Amino acid sequence: MVRKIIIAGNWKMNKTMAEAKALVKELKGLVADVKAVEIVVCPPFTALNAVVEAAAGSNIKVGAQNVHWAGSGAFTGEISAAMLKEAGVEYVIIGHSERRQYFGETDATVNQRLKAALAAGLKPIVCIGETLEEREQGMTEKVLLTQLEGGLAGLSSDQVAGVVIAYEPVWAIGTGKTATPEMAEETHRYIRCTLKSLFDEVAEDVVIQYGGSMKAANSGQLVAQKNIDGGLIGGASLEAESFAALIKNAVA
Ligand code: 13P
Repeated sequence: MVRKIIIAGNWKMNKTMAEAKALVKELKGLVADVKAVEIVVCPPFTALNAVVEAAAGSNIKVGAQNVHWAGSGAFTGEISAAMLKEAGVEYVIIGHSERRQYFGETDATVNQRLKAALAAGLKPIVCIGETLEEREQGMTEKVLLTQLEGGLAGLSSDQVAGVVIAYEPVWAIGTGKTATPEMAEETHRYIRCTLKSLFDEVAEDVVIQYGGSMKAANSGQLVAQKNIDGGLIGGASLEAESFAALIKNAVA
């Protein structure tokens, strides 16, 4: 099976409603003829509705940056899967390293959020990745294995086929240090092999994105690798022109 290329912009805590609308309106025009890439933008919660409206009728899909596992209740500051569905959201990022680092996200909470997202019919983008210290200690594979085992625990193979994995080496996020295409491919291959050992042949269908200082200048080389099926983009997704160029170069 030929895997889809999915490129998603994670806007993190950036863009007011007005800024978000303006960005999507500009992006729409720039990527209107792109067919080979599934394009996703993930604004903050407050701008989701505005972005869904601005993206209507275009080839731009909308994702959220987090989802809670409960249907409703006393969880101040959290958002449920049903709320996201109602807002017109299709994708949701789960377990970003910033949430792991600053907000106590663990593989167990990633797993709970993931199950809620799947049950609601949202397409999850589950983030994994090692820190610089872990890489230097030769622990990358062990860290990724633990994150995959814990994060995807209890899922059926069919469910895993619908999960997007974003491999984001923490040391490459926002630092300008991208993993070389060869280095990233080696890790992506390891992730796919691990998925195969955990969930069987369905691993061949799983989209594995790369994230960490991906930009227009390196997206082509990265996505050309056999096991790199797109990207999760921070900084370069905040301007329509840079994001559009990154998307087009990825499949040029
Ligand atoms: P940068 O593209 O800014 O390095 O961020 C990557 C990221 O964290 C996307 O989720």
